[in-house]
Amino acid sequence: MKDVYILGIESSCDETSCSIVKNGTVEIATSTSTQIAIHENFGGVVPEIASREHVKNITIVIEDCLKKANMKIEDVNAIAITYGPGLIGSLLIGLEAAKTLSYIYNKPLIPIHHIAGHIYANSLVEELKFPLIALVVSGGHTELIKMTDHFKFEKLGGTLDDAIGECYDKVARVIGLSYPGGPKLDKLSKEGKPTYKLPIPLNDNSYNFSFSGLKSAVINLNHNEEQKGNKINKADLAASFQDAAVKSIVSKTKKALKDYDINNLIVAGGVAANSILREALNDMCKENNIHLSIPPMKYCTDNGTMIASSGYYAYKLNRKADYYLNSMSTTPLQ
Ligand code: KG4
Ligand code: ZN
Repeated sequence: MKDVYILGIESSCDETSCSIVKNGTVEIATSTSTQIAIHENFGGVVPEIASREHVKNITIVIEDCLKKANMKIEDVNAIAITYGPGLIGSLLIGLEAAKTLSYIYNKPLIPIHHIAGHIYANSLVEELKFPLIALVVSGGHTELIKMTDHFKFEKLGGTLDDAIGECYDKVARVIGLSYPGGPKLDKLSKEGKPTYKLPIPLNDNSYNFSFSGLKSAVINLNHNEEQKGNKINKADLAASFQDAAVKSIVSKTKKALKDYDINNLIVAGGVAANSILREALNDMCKENNIHLSIPPMKYCTDNGTMIASSGYYAYKLNRKADYYLNSMSTTPLQ
C-alpha cells in the first residue's frame, strides 16, 4: 500500500502549528509557534492579539514544516485543518490558509474537530483499539467519550461548569502563578502535601464533572487565611487542589470503564501532561487491568501533529469538506 502523507494545521487558540504525518502514526516534521510569552502579560489568551499573531506566523510555520520534512505541498495527499471549537478569529487564520493550499494544489480539505485531534494524538503512540473510553482534559474541555470505531464518538458526560484546565489556571492565579498556571501548579505541588481540606467535586453517580465549587473553595480558603493574617502554604494548597481534582477525574473515569465493560483508556488534551493525573490513572488502570494510553507531553498540548494524524483516519473514511467549511467557536464532536 502507498504511504499517505497528511499536512495538518492547528490554530484554534495560542499555538500556530503545522505538521506532516505519515499513515496517521509517524511524525515526519512539525513546526509550532507559541504565543504563551505574549499572553502571559495579560493573565490569559487575548483573542484579538492571538488572531494577529496567527496571521504573522501561519506561513512561517507551514514553510518551516515543509523544509524540515524536505517535502513540497505537491507531495502530501491532503490538508487537514481544525475548524472548531476554539477562538473564532484564530481558527479562521488556519482555515483560510488550509483552504488556499487545498485549492491551489488541488488537495482534499479534511475538517478536524479540535477534540478529535487531541484524541487522535494517541495514534502517534499506538493505533487506537476499540471500544475505548477517551478522557479529554484540556483548557476548554473535560469529557468522557466512548468510541466504538474511528470517528464514532458518544459523549458519556462532561463538565457542568469550568473545564479542568481553566480551573487549574484560575487556581494557579490565586496562588500567584503566571499564565498558563497548570504546569506551574503541577510543579509546585511536588514540594507540598495535600493538607488543606477541600471538597471532592460532584461525588455522584453520573459521568459529569464540576470544578467551579472546588475553585471557589480554594479562593475562599486563601481569602479567609489572609484575613486571619495566616500565611498560606502555597505548595500544600496546590497539592490539596490537585488531590481533589484528580480524585474526581479518576473516579468518574473508572466508573465509565466499569459500567461499559471497556478495557482501553486513552487520555487527551493539555491537562494530560499533568504528572499527578498520569500517575493516578496509571495506578487505577494497573489495578483494574485496563490498557492505558497517554500521549507524550509534546502531543498533549495543542499541535499540528494530532490534526495531521486524525486527518489520516478521516481521509481514509473520505471525510472531506468543501470550501463552504467555516470555523466554529463551539461545535459538537464528530
Ligand atoms: O489542550 P490545550 O493545550 O488547549 C486547549 O485546547 O484548551 O490545554 C491547555 C491547558 C491549560 O489550561 C494548561 O494550564 C493545562 O492545559 N496544562 C496543565 C499542564 N500542562 C498543561 N494543567 C495541569 N498540569 C499540567 N502539567
Ligand atoms: Zn486543545
